Amino acid sequence: MLTALWVEPHWNLFMKPLLITIDGPAGAGKTTVSRILADRLAYRYIDTGALYRAVALLAHRRGISAQDDAGLALLCRDLTLTFVRGPNGVRLICNEEDVSDPIRQPDITMLASAVSARPLVRLFLLEVQRRLAKEKGVVFEGRDMGTEVFPEADIKFFLDAASDTRAVRRHRELDNDTGQSLDAVRQDMQRRDHADSTRTLAPLRPAADAIIIDSTNMDIEQVVDTLLGHIGEPRA
Ligand code: DC
Repeated sequence: MLTALWVEPHWNLFMKPLLITIDGPAGAGKTTVSRILADRLAYRYIDTGALYRAVALLAHRRGISAQDDAGLALLCRDLTLTFVRGPNGVRLICNEEDVSDPIRQPDITMLASAVSARPLVRLFLLEVQRRLAKEKGVVFEGRDMGTEVFPEADIKFFLDAASDTRAVRRHRELDNDTGQSLDAVRQDMQRRDHADSTRTLAPLRPAADAIIIDSTNMDIEQVVDTLLGHIGEPRA
């Protein structure tokens, strides 16, 4: 069943609701910034990477490789993905299971990048993502939000940072739950960046009309303020 529902939307009543996209490579700060931005605007926040990760998690559990299109097609056919807001923030429910934590494991992260290069997976999730945008007042975070999924978005950002800075941030973010060294995180990130930006379909790149922000020397608040400035909202 191809369904994706949103529970408990929030709206900012004082401005026309917008569809905002934030693309960029791993470790650029997209997730933190998107969450804060969505909170400030009272918008919904959609982490589209989580959708690719959920497909990867299920493929991993069922022993389906990233090259097995027939297996992936069967998997997607019965896949239900729902974002639910609860006391622990927004959770991703996949076929009735909360997969928000297991999808963060390093092997699932690498597999997510591999399955995201398969056209049938992208096509399946394209539909899921567009359905989630039926109502505006939403921040979509991903790799191809501004280029492929929402070319008509009201405002598009591309968040980048120097590769070393991103590796350090990512390593800190993983909180060593995974036991990965900084070097291992850096190598995984570089492999993933390369794969995500060189794949044939919907590679990672800024949309022609995206506002590019280099966050190397900025803290989170500065990035959020910069985004709000472009959106035309008062800053904190
Ligand atoms: O944002 P993330 O690290 O959770 O994304 C995991 C992988 O999913 C990433 O390596 C590439 C893929 N992805 C994608 O291809 N398109 C998106 N819109 C989001 C993620």
